[in-house]
Amino acid sequence: MSNASTSQKIVSVSAKQTQALAGQLAKKILTSQTRAGALALALKGDLGSGKTTFVQGLAKGLGVKGRITSPTFVLMKRFKNFYHFDCYRLQRPEEILQLGWQEIIANPQNIIAIEWPERIKKFLPKETIYLNFKFMDKNQREIKIGKTAIFMVK
Ligand SMILES: Nc1ncnc2c1ncn2[C@@H]1O[C@H](COP(=O)(O)OP(=O)(O)OP(=O)(O)O)[C@@H](O)[C@H]1O
Ligand SMILES: [Mg+2]
Repeated sequence: MSNASTSQKIVSVSAKQTQALAGQLAKKILTSQTRAGALALALKGDLGSGKTTFVQGLAKGLGVKGRITSPTFVLMKRFKNFYHFDCYRLQRPEEILQLGWQEIIANPQNIIAIEWPERIKKFLPKETIYLNFKFMDKNQREIKIGKTAIFMVK
């Protein structure tokens, strides 16, 4: 769990724990080095696996004032330099470009959380950090954090 080149797997036993984990990661992001472009987090996983719940904890940890909800019919929500995308209802990947996507990902100040990133795979920044959410039972979710130097939570 301490090597920056390995991925991490965590079993969360409550929505609260998932948010707390995200909060920890938010702190790491805030103290991380400057990047060439935005910091993008791609949150993969089935419906109800905890992606939005995670984004709530992330936003709180980043100091974002505003309520994070399931965008559902809203593809994007912006809170200053924090962006929450939910691509579930996207018909074609190119639709994301109409939202100013290229400018958003080019700005190193921006932090972007993307649910259903599979839908816009070809437009994701190369340095995107991937998280995988798996439903285990009612309150258990397995959360896998892809290889990154930023996200060592222990
Ligand atoms: N350990 C856990 N981590 C996260 N959520 C949990 C956990 N246990 C129970 N839950 C519940 O599971 C639900 C997760 O819903 P959430 O909207 O976060 O999922 P989602 O992955 O964003 O789904 P969607 O693909 O529909 O956007 C919430 O109701 C949350 O309270
Ligand atoms: Mg969601």
